[in-house]
Amino acid sequence: MVELNPYDWIDRSLETIERANWYRSTQVIASLPGTEVAIDGRKLLNFGSNDYLGLAGDDRVIRAAMAATHQFGTGSTGSRLTSGHKQLHEDLEQAIARLKGTEAALVFSSGYLANLGTIAALASKRDLILSDRSNHSSLKNGALLSGATVIEYKHGDVDDLRQQLQVHRTSYRRCLIITDTVFSMDGDICPLPDILVLSIEYAAMLLLDEAHATGIFGTTGAGVVEHYNCGGKPLVEIGTLSKAIGSLGGYVAGSFSLINFLKNRCASWIYTTGLSPADTAAALTSIEIISTTPQLQQQLWANVADLKQLFIDRLPDLPLIPSASPIICLELPDAQTALTMGNKLKQAGIFAPAIRPPTVPTSRIRLSLMATHQRSQLEQLVDAIETIWG
Ligand SMILES: Cc1ncc(COP(=O)(O)O)c(C=O)c1O
Repeated sequence: MVELNPYDWIDRSLETIERANWYRSTQVIASLPGTEVAIDGRKLLNFGSNDYLGLAGDDRVIRAAMAATHQFGTGSTGSRLTSGHKQLHEDLEQAIARLKGTEAALVFSSGYLANLGTIAALASKRDLILSDRSNHSSLKNGALLSGATVIEYKHGDVDDLRQQLQVHRTSYRRCLIITDTVFSMDGDICPLPDILVLSIEYAAMLLLDEAHATGIFGTTGAGVVEHYNCGGKPLVEIGTLSKAIGSLGGYVAGSFSLINFLKNRCASWIYTTGLSPADTAAALTSIEIISTTPQLQQQLWANVADLKQLFIDRLPDLPLIPSASPIICLELPDAQTALTMGNKLKQAGIFAPAIRPPTVPTSRIRLSLMATHQRSQLEQLVDAIETIWG
C-alpha cells in the first residue's frame, strides 16, 4: 500500500533517531574562536574546537582575510578552470607544497570535497580500495563514490592489511590504501611506516588524510608523514585548511602529475567555485605563521603532556581512549551517559561535545586541546571532570 504523504517516513526516522539518543542539533557559538566561547549567553571554556593552534581568531589571519576581501571581493565567482582562479590560490598551493615538501598542491573548497573527489578520481570499477575501518566519513564516501571494491581492514592493524593485500591484490588492476593519519574521534595515529612498506611491496597507491595532523605533527608542522620521516615517497597527502590552519578549504599535495591529473579528472575540484579570497588569504597567512612560529606547536604539545599528567595524577581510573594527539576522548557506556556528561560539563563551565553513534561505534566525550589554553584552564577542566566523575 502506497503512503499518501511521501515524506511521512522522515518524521518516523527522526523519532527513531531521538529514541536512540542519537539526535543531533546545532548550537550557536556567539564569540570569536578561542579558549573561551560564548554559548547560550554564558562564557564557557572551550575544549571542543579543532583550532589547535588558536589561529582562527588570530588578528593577523583575520586582517589577511579582510584585506583579500577588500581587494578581490567576497566570492571567487567561478570555478578555478573558468573565471575563479586567482594568484592567491597559486600562492597558497605553493605554500602548502613547501610545507609538505611535495612538488605541487591543489586547493579544494573543503577537506571533505578533497577526499571525495580525489579517491573517486584515483580508483574505479576494476580497482580495490583498502580502507581503515575508523576512517573519516569523507574517505569512506569517496571510496563508495569511486565504484571500486572496498574492503575495510581492522583499525590500525597492519597484519590485517597485509592479509587483505595477500588475498585480494592480484584480482584487481590498481589498489589504493586510504587512511587518516590522526583519527579524529579517537586521537590515535596510523602506523604509517608499516603501511608505507606494504604499499610499496604490493604496488598500491597510498592516500593519507592529514586533516588533524597538519600544523601539529612533525618538526615543521608538515604532519604525520614528517613525524615518521616518510616524506619524499610517492604519496597522496590530503588535508584541510579548517583545523590547525584556522580557515576553510582542503588540499591535496603530491607530484606534479598527480595534481595535473586531478585538475583534469577530479569532479569535486573542477565543477565547483574556487575557494573565496578571504579563506585563501587566511590559510596562506596561517601557514606562514606556522612555519615561522614553532613555539605554537611546542605550546600545544606541552598542554597535551600537562593534561595527560593531570589525569594520571588525579583521575587514574578515567576510561581514556589511548591517544597520541591533542584529541583526548573519555569513553562512556552509552549515548545517554555521554549526553548527560556533556550537559554536566556545560553546567560546570566547560564546552566539550558528546560524540555518539553513528559517528563513532561507542559514545564518548571528545576533548581537544589548543596551544593557547592556559594551565589554569586545564586544571579547571580536570576539576570539573573530577567533580562529575565522583
Ligand atoms: C579526518 C577528517 N578528514 C576530513 C575532514 C573534512 O574536512 P573539512 O572540514 O575541511 O571538510 C574532517 C573534518 O571535518 C576530518 O576530521
